[in-house]
Amino acid sequence: MSKIELKNIDKFYGGNHVLKGLNLTIEDGEFMTLLGPSGCGKTTTLRVVSGLERPQKGSIYMDGREIVNAAELYYEPPSKRNLNLVFQSYALWPHMTVFKNAAFGLSIKKAPQGEIKTKVENALERMQILQYRDRYPSELSGGQQQRVAIARAIVTAPKILLLDEPLSNLDAKLRIDMRSELKRLHQEMGTTVIYVTHDQIEALTMSTKVAVFFEGVLVQVDTPMEVYRNPADLKVADFIGNPRINFVEAKASVKGDELTVRSDLGEFVFNKKDFTGREFPQNAEFDCILGLRPEQLIPRREAVPGAVEASVYASQPAGSETLVQIQIKNTRLLVKELGIGAYERDQRVFLDIHPDMINVFNKESGSLIKYAL
Ligand SMILES: Nc1ncnc2c1ncn2[C@@H]1O[C@H](COP(=O)(O)OP(=O)(O)OP(=O)(O)O)[C@@H](O)[C@H]1O
Ligand SMILES: [Mg+2]
Repeated sequence: MSKIELKNIDKFYGGNHVLKGLNLTIEDGEFMTLLGPSGCGKTTTLRVVSGLERPQKGSIYMDGREIVNAAELYYEPPSKRNLNLVFQSYALWPHMTVFKNAAFGLSIKKAPQGEIKTKVENALERMQILQYRDRYPSELSGGQQQRVAIARAIVTAPKILLLDEPLSNLDAKLRIDMRSELKRLHQEMGTTVIYVTHDQIEALTMSTKVAVFFEGVLVQVDTPMEVYRNPADLKVADFIGNPRINFVEAKASVKGDELTVRSDLGEFVFNKKDFTGREFPQNAEFDCILGLRPEQLIPRREAVPGAVEASVYASQPAGSETLVQIQIKNTRLLVKELGIGAYERDQRVFLDIHPDMINVFNKESGSLIKYAL
């Protein structure tokens, strides 16, 4: 059992309010990713959980046991918390070989030599660095050192693993391999993982839950697919997804159980059953923003019922996919099509839009008001 609960955490560095009323529960065995732009407070959250930083307000529970109570100035020391932290700037022992670095945690626990050898070799192998076992950190690249730091953290099978951007120094191919390794490791060990990244692909591909932060405020906690499909507000929608989501200005009005939106894409009517429950004006026209993912839009060569007439502004074939910019009146949309799409500049197309897939946001508050299915 390793559940972590953060309750009403406030953290200041001098006058800088870095974490603002943070409430977050990480269930036992969860792979929770803290996602957000640089400076939003991700590392600070990890440091607060690990005990390296003391929040000024709030409390933290580990498996129901209170480990932080700021009001009573109670902070359990990091060594008692049974967790393992891999820092954003990985700190390896310079005078120890790769093997000794990775074996460090088990050595101080006085584990039998045979066990150390098996576990360390297994971890180094998974991180694809077994061939460097006798080298010193100064003889390794940044990405190799980073993988030693991960190996060192996993050999002791901690109850909670805290990882701060552990793949940031790796090239694209290795990063994909390491994502799979970390994901499998998590599933095999059942360890609770708190993982920090500003890379939304990492967050979507590995996590069981994603917590999205902006400027010290937790904006959304959901499964990766829910964060992708139904971002809580415009900021999250804009941050998640590559290529980014299309935003279209629209006017909305409500009548009974129906929300009607009008834009360059035409008119769509949505039913109350898909409303998120967040507030929006009831009896007046108001501004909203439609969110449409590039892969959900399909340009067709011939008119199909409901499709919107448009023209091709530019197309960018890239082998595995083609990005096409489509112009509809004053709106330009990015469409992603699998494979090589052959489009001419200014070619007439008919854009097939599935209203069920559209997110509707209140422009003023930025909140999602209508779910996509
Ligand atoms: N020791 C410190 N003293 C003062 N301010 C700090 C300290 N550590 C972090 N900060 C500030 O707190 C804010 C949050 O920093 P934090 O390191 O948590 O961001 P982050 O989300 O991890 O960003 P990144 O993606 O760049 O690593 C930033 O404005 C940062 O400048
Ligand atoms: Mg950081």
